[in-house]
Amino acid sequence: MIKTAVLGFGTVGSGVVELIDRNRGPVERRVPEGIEVKYILDLRDFPDSPYRDRVVHDFNVILEDPEIRVICETMGGMEPAFTFSKKALEKGISVCTSNKELVAAHGPELLQTAQKNHCSYLFEASVGGGIPIIRPVTSSLAPENITRIIGILNGTTNYMMTRMEKENLSFDEVLRQAQERGYAEKNPEADIEGHDACRKIAILSSLMCGKNVRYEDVPCEGISRISMTDVAYARAMGCAIKLLGVSERSPEDGTFYVRTAPFMVPSSHPLHSVEDVFNAVFVHGNLVDDLMFYGRGAGKFPTASAVVSDLLECALQIGSTIPVRWTDEVMQLSDPAQKKGRFFVRVPAEHREKAAELFKGCASVSAPEAPTDETAFTTAPMTEAAFEAAVAELGEVRSRIRLLEA
Ligand code: HSE
Repeated sequence: MIKTAVLGFGTVGSGVVELIDRNRGPVERRVPEGIEVKYILDLRDFPDSPYRDRVVHDFNVILEDPEIRVICETMGGMEPAFTFSKKALEKGISVCTSNKELVAAHGPELLQTAQKNHCSYLFEASVGGGIPIIRPVTSSLAPENITRIIGILNGTTNYMMTRMEKENLSFDEVLRQAQERGYAEKNPEADIEGHDACRKIAILSSLMCGKNVRYEDVPCEGISRISMTDVAYARAMGCAIKLLGVSERSPEDGTFYVRTAPFMVPSSHPLHSVEDVFNAVFVHGNLVDDLMFYGRGAGKFPTASAVVSDLLECALQIGSTIPVRWTDEVMQLSDPAQKKGRFFVRVPAEHREKAAELFKGCASVSAPEAPTDETAFTTAPMTEAAFEAAVAELGEVRSRIRLLEA
């Protein structure tokens, strides 16, 4: 038996423990010795849980047990997850994690620590929940020059936008539903303001380039400014509003453009049909062309499935490091102000003529439910800088949302 410990017995951690019991057959097909959860680390006791006898409160019990060669870190947050992960790796214990916050902030350092100590740091569950995307990007697509990744990377906001669109429910109501279903972060601001998706696109971008794309360097907008009027326009335009993480490698100079923001996604794009808690990652490789990875981006068992998949790989590679190329050299991102694209814009009706002058080549759009005191249009392709300059000259803009080109 390979003995493991699960750090944090919350939604994902309890899913890991239950999955190992429930799917013993598939687990043992991959690792014939089998996997046993010897310890569960949590501050709380769980007197009603069938796993109560495995609960410990002191991390050192796990660290000092020579039988433990792999741990699953499902605590979330920076501390004590970082200290525990680092200490485990320094002792040659592999770590599998769902902790995107920690991976985005300390991925290169923890990978280096793993390499020095002949163990692994794996984080399949940190992006896309149950979708296998980290291993495809690092391994299956290794011969590719990946030039673009566009992802719906946050289940909570995709759930919210879908319910707002389909059921005309308010922002607060749909957020409450997402929290009840266990999709949202403890502090849902990380979902709504785009920070969670931003960390995930930074992780994927880092794996694309092998250097460190710092999430702090990625322009980030969430969905909190999206209104039901925007949703009505999107519907009338045959689009759906999605929070996307976008990462593109310039074919000319290899520089990276990375952004997290809500986009109008046209019905002709495969990401348009990705609804509810589902995530999808659209990848373009220079040889393989377009790929799309689709699945549940949050929730207990989908995320646990990804953690256990890493656990099984680590169990098969004890004493060696599963390579992941992601150095601490900071990747300089290209100036987002120079990125060209089209925008959807709503302005008060009295600005109609001035808007037409400032946004040459714009095309007006209408929606049956739109307020009568405003006008809306899509711009011609223009740089972000030119767009912001035109908005500043116009004064008041009720809403602006980028368009994803099909
Ligand atoms: N809050 C995250 C989401 C959980 O909604 O996608 C999975 O990372």
